[in-house]
Order: sequence, then structure tokens, then C-alpha cells
Amino acid sequence: MRAAAVMLVSLAAAWSGVAACADAPSFAAHVLPLFKSRCLVCHMPGAESGELSLHPKVAYANLVGARATQGPWLRVAPGKPDESYLYLKVTGRHLGAGGSGERMPFNEAPLTTEQVDLLRRWIETGANP
Ligand code: HEC
Repeated sequence: MRAAAVMLVSLAAAWSGVAACADAPSFAAHVLPLFKSRCLVCHMPGAESGELSLHPKVAYANLVGARATQGPWLRVAPGKPDESYLYLKVTGRHLGAGGSGERMPFNEAPLTTEQVDLLRRWIETGANP
């Protein structure tokens, strides 16, 4: 009985941990793995498409509060996904906003709804490292 109660408590703790990370994703734990699988191949040091390196050592600094190459926006403006060029580029809304080039990932299947939502929530909740 006691063991069952302990188990319930730790289950609840684990669950609230999951919910908390879903509410405020972090760059290192949630965003970087997505970039590694979908973006890094074209945004490597030495071959920085759009003059943007997404190498894990520099990606955060190159995005958060950093100016876009293709226009006056910040690539990531914390708290403001709709004013973040990264978000406009992955949703294909960059042209309407006056940007240039293709929707990202370039010439590949778009990000899934879940992946786009993750980026949106990450920016909305302050673009945590
Ligand atoms: C197949 C190659 C390729 C892949 C994969 C790719 N990109 Fe790009 N990216 C480019 C090229 C080429 C440009 C510049 C031309 C353009 O914008 O179409 C660019 C430009 C950009 C820019 C504009 C940079 C600026 O400051 O103006 C952003 C932001 C960007 N990419 C983000 C991403 C993200 C995020 C992913 C993954 C979801 C990704 N890219 C995947 C090739 C790629």
C-alpha cells in the first residue's frame, strides 16, 4: 500500500515535469535536436546558407536577438514568434512579410505541425537556452 502511494507520487512528479517542459521548451533539450535532424546539413560552419550557422556551439547566439541576413527582422525575437524571421521562414510567411528566398527546410518537406508548434512555443515562452 505504502509502495503504491510512493509510486503514485513519483508518477505525478514525472508527469508534471513533462507538462512543464512542454509549456516552456528549451533550446538545448528541444529545439537543437530538431535543427540537427532537419537543418544542420545546410547550415554548417564553412557552408552557412543564408549566412546562418546552426552548429550547436553558435546556433543560439546566431538566432536569439541576432539580425537576419535577408531583412530587418531579428531571427528570433523572444516572446514574438510572428516577428521572428526564423518562424516566418519555416511557416513560409517570410515572403508576405517582405523577406526573400525559400521556405525552410529548403527544397524539403515542411516541418510537421508539432515541430512548428514547438518552435512557436519556444519563442513565445522567451526562447530559453
Ligand atoms: C537543403 C538546404 C537547407 C536546409 C535543409 C535548410 N536550409 Fe535554411 N537556408 C538554406 C539556403 C540556401 C538559404 C538562403 C536562401 C533562402 O533563404 O532560400 C537559407 C536561409 C535560411 C534562413 C534565413 C537566414 C537569414 O538570416 O536571413 C533561415 C532563418 C533558415 N535558413 C533556417 C533554416 C531552418 C530553421 C532549417 C531547418 C528547419 C533550415 N534552414 C534548413 C538552405 C537550407
